[in-house]
Amino acid sequence: MNFSFSRSDFPADFQFGTATSAYQIEGHAFGGAGETHWDSFAATPGNVAKAENGARACDHYHRWEEDLDLVAGGNFDVYRFSTSWARVMPDGMNINPEGLDFYDRLVDGLLERGLKPAATLYHWELPSALADLGGWRNRDVARWFGDFTAAIMGRIGDRVWSAAPINEPWCVSWLSHFLGAHAPGLRDIRATARAMHHVMLAHGTATQVMRELGMSNLGAVCNLEYAQPADQSAEAGRVARTYDAIYNRFFLSGIFKGEYPEEVIEGLGDHLPEGWQDDMALISQPVDWCGLNYYTRKLIAPAPGPWPGLAEVDGPLPKTEMGWEIFPDGLYHFLTMVARDFTGDTPLFVTENGMAAPDRLENGAVQDDDRIAYVDAHVAALRRALAEGVPVKGYYVWSLMDNFEWALGYDKRFGLVHVDFDSLERRPKASYHALSAALARS
Ligand code: NOJ
Repeated sequence: MNFSFSRSDFPADFQFGTATSAYQIEGHAFGGAGETHWDSFAATPGNVAKAENGARACDHYHRWEEDLDLVAGGNFDVYRFSTSWARVMPDGMNINPEGLDFYDRLVDGLLERGLKPAATLYHWELPSALADLGGWRNRDVARWFGDFTAAIMGRIGDRVWSAAPINEPWCVSWLSHFLGAHAPGLRDIRATARAMHHVMLAHGTATQVMRELGMSNLGAVCNLEYAQPADQSAEAGRVARTYDAIYNRFFLSGIFKGEYPEEVIEGLGDHLPEGWQDDMALISQPVDWCGLNYYTRKLIAPAPGPWPGLAEVDGPLPKTEMGWEIFPDGLYHFLTMVARDFTGDTPLFVTENGMAAPDRLENGAVQDDDRIAYVDAHVAALRRALAEGVPVKGYYVWSLMDNFEWALGYDKRFGLVHVDFDSLERRPKASYHALSAALARS
């Protein structure tokens, strides 16, 4: 199976990329990295499938050259990766020189291969020493994060092509402090409100630090899920809007408008830290681009109980291995909506899109046609937005290779490249070969 598009269908400055994150691929046990809240979360029974963790992961810490060769061989322009706070600062404060050296080598390795390094500062592995101090609930986390930003970007900031402070602020805050599905696994509305605001404050602080270092091409990466009412009732419409406000608009409004949506303040207002309004100028300082991570939609219905009083309902569309409905129109919706309501002429990037599939290695190959169809349909949705004048400047596939899918462990395979988690052998799937060919076609 082939992709229906070629590189020449896109403007000359359009960037194709692929993405990973530190804890999911590196092997956290190597190179002097410190304990993180994901290690203790995973060591707590019931949190992660098979109690798996990121100790070895894909051993990218040692195999990074082979992995960068795969990025280059895929004909990508950009490699989006993240820098582990606990690798650079094992106790959250003091520097591990080996950690800085690793990212220094990685960035040089990308540049040597003609690839653009797109760095994300935080992709979820908070140093345990900082979790002990309250982690994202503690306002000081923004200052600590600023120190980390200065340390890592003081070393690689002169060579990265783009940088974003936080991957998916909704996951860092709501998913991890309200739903309890990710580390630190809390289910507490006050902790959630604080984490939601502090993650925004950390975004603003890091952006300011990077500007002071003279860096440019700084962005923000939000995950967006298209919330649709489960039925025609006014109540379902109302809670779908609440879901959209919590999931999507809280972070976009904070960063691009300097305000939080009414629907969220209604539920979280009493729990937000006092004086939060005074932080909004720092939080909404200008950024150069906005990244959208998009995978699926959600059908939302009212549910009994306190705010937000909503529940997700199983939908009828074909699903990926994650159980997520495949809904490419949602990507078109977000690209047009975000540009219209929040970002205007600011460039947009799809910083993640992809699917988990039950990929099997057969006769040395993985035939993942479903993934090809998924990416193809989402790229087509992107092109519709592009044709309407939305300033979309890039599309990055999640992920380069199979990796640690957080609470779901190693079973959910998102990679363009198959990883055998015993031998750690990498094997490009059919989707990798097809994409590589599409990106070479003129
Ligand atoms: C978003 C996250 O950024 C990434 O870490 C995760 O693996 C993918 N979505 C798939 O769930």
